Amino acid sequence: MVDSFEKIPVEIYPSAQDGSRYVAEEIARLIREKQQKKEKCVLGMATGGTPIYLDAELVRMHKEEGLSFKNVITFNLDEYYPIEKKAFQSYWSFMHRHLFDHIDIDPANIHIPDGSWPKEDVKKYCAAYEATFEEAGGIDLQILGIGLNGHIGFNEPGSSIISKTRLINLDNTTRIANTYEFENISKVPRLAITMGISTILKAKRILLMGWGQKSAIIARSVDGNVSEHVPASILQQHTDCTFVVD
Ligand code: GLP
Repeated sequence: MVDSFEKIPVEIYPSAQDGSRYVAEEIARLIREKQQKKEKCVLGMATGGTPIYLDAELVRMHKEEGLSFKNVITFNLDEYYPIEKKAFQSYWSFMHRHLFDHIDIDPANIHIPDGSWPKEDVKKYCAAYEATFEEAGGIDLQILGIGLNGHIGFNEPGSSIISKTRLINLDNTTRIANTYEFENISKVPRLAITMGISTILKAKRILLMGWGQKSAIIARSVDGNVSEHVPASILQQHTDCTFVVD
């Protein structure tokens, strides 16, 4: 059901699993459409608790319905900093554990910000990361989750609308929310590399998923004024963005 009174179209599903299936179907349609045209399909991927069912559904579609990811190029939104790729908590590990190890994507087509660069090189590395997806022709479809404070990727409140891929300080609320992935809060990195808001806005299509406890911040992002204090509200300025909620 589309609620046309909102500033961003919202698709409401009875459960996170149902909403994730809807998102997976849109992704599969796009991949197949691009396959028929012999084109690459460039996807922006997200991590966290939100896309777990989506990843599982994509794996199921690959195994049971023969959905191939051979023409797919992926770019992940963000990564903790500093972190080693192989650390259990890295988004590199997350993506391989939940999706990439189970589908037929070419490993050369997988791009995840690398949180192991020395600090003095990170700025250059972020600019290079940003250039890579511009070279790939831009992102066809960007998947997003949303933080309880309205962050998208790791663009915390206050992130500028013109921000690009960069190193950012994590809000304490974000570190607390993500503590479950680590032994305790002291182990949660204080920094992260994230695509910027302007980077995200360049995607041709955006699907933001938000389940359960995210309803208040979703309502604020969809109904409220556009504000850098609520990064997800800036998505009102995108011409092809849909929120998928339960
Ligand atoms: C995380 C990620 C975001 C994610 C958001 C929500 O920390 N960096 O990309 O969308 O915060 O997380 P979750 O899906 O676990 O609620």
